[in-house]
Amino acid sequence: MQLFNSVVAHAIPWIPRALVQKMARRYIAGDDINAAVKRLQQLQTQGFCATIDVLGETAATPAQAHNTAAEYLRVLDAIHTYGLHASISVKPTAMGLLLDEDLCERLLTEILQSACRIGASVCMDMEDVRCTQMQIDLFQRLQAHHSDFGLALQAYLRRTYQDIESLAHARNTLRLCKGIYREEAAHLVDNAGRDRNAINPHFLAHLARCFDAGCFVAIATHDAALIDQAVALAHSRGIDRSRFEFQMLLGVSESLRDRLLVQGFGVRIYVPFGKDWYGYSTRRLKENPRIAGHVLRAMLQR
Ligand code: FDA
Repeated sequence: MQLFNSVVAHAIPWIPRALVQKMARRYIAGDDINAAVKRLQQLQTQGFCATIDVLGETAATPAQAHNTAAEYLRVLDAIHTYGLHASISVKPTAMGLLLDEDLCERLLTEILQSACRIGASVCMDMEDVRCTQMQIDLFQRLQAHHSDFGLALQAYLRRTYQDIESLAHARNTLRLCKGIYREEAAHLVDNAGRDRNAINPHFLAHLARCFDAGCFVAIATHDAALIDQAVALAHSRGIDRSRFEFQMLLGVSESLRDRLLVQGFGVRIYVPFGKDWYGYSTRRLKENPRIAGHVLRAMLQR
């Protein structure tokens, strides 16, 4: 299966663009903010919260970084105008982290101030290992002045054990995920590059650390076994449901997310939108051969 997924992932650049768009439709709300608002309203009616991601590649110019930031400000306006139960998720490289760190910090500050005015929270997605330390430093500088600001941590990285020590405290919101980037084995916990299940004990260790520290945790996974273990962990430590939520990507594992909602857990859906759908789709497919396999299976089913 792994070989099959890997072959599919390498074939992505040769799949016609129109077909990739068709396949990616379930993962993306649409091209513009109106499509995102419509999708969010549907999710809200069903009882879900959402976090909105503006699609975009690493900014290649300051103008691109400014454009992405401006789009996030429009998203915050829409959240306010339509009374949406939504936060936003930001990628610092899209705001120029690898281009000009000061610019990135200024743009994020503007976004955080605007989010604070309307009472929306912001989460910083965690990107590849080139960015990890820069992002943690940036988060800690900004978080000193902005309370409703969270950070994603990747359980597949060895370093997360050290990182979480300074990040897990009662004031913080942390999102735990397995991690999506193709990293060298030296950065990863044992076997993580070959076996996604190998990440699970580490994910649970970090979750326990967060529970003990008293922070709010977003459990971002579609792994049903891991979710059951997370629920059992919360139960065994007497952690109230108000202290964590589950997060899932739009279009993924919908029956599982519905089940969690029925069981009374908070569930937030990660909703990407934007014209840069091709970059997002192919990056995800290449980065995670497993996802590529899902796409091909979906294609064959159709
Ligand atoms: P795993 O990869 O083991 O998949 C478990 C099961 O989920 C699969 O067997 C399959 O059933 C289902 N599944 C997973 N992906 C699917 C897909 N695309 N289509 C259909 N089914 C699928 N990563 C990162 O590096 N930085 C970040 O900031 C974030 N942020 C983030 C936010 C949210 C809300 C989520 C849900 C995920 C992220 N991620 C992320 C991505 C995350 O690290 C991870 O790569 C994916 O969630 C897939 O891993 P799982 O934990 O679902 O487990």
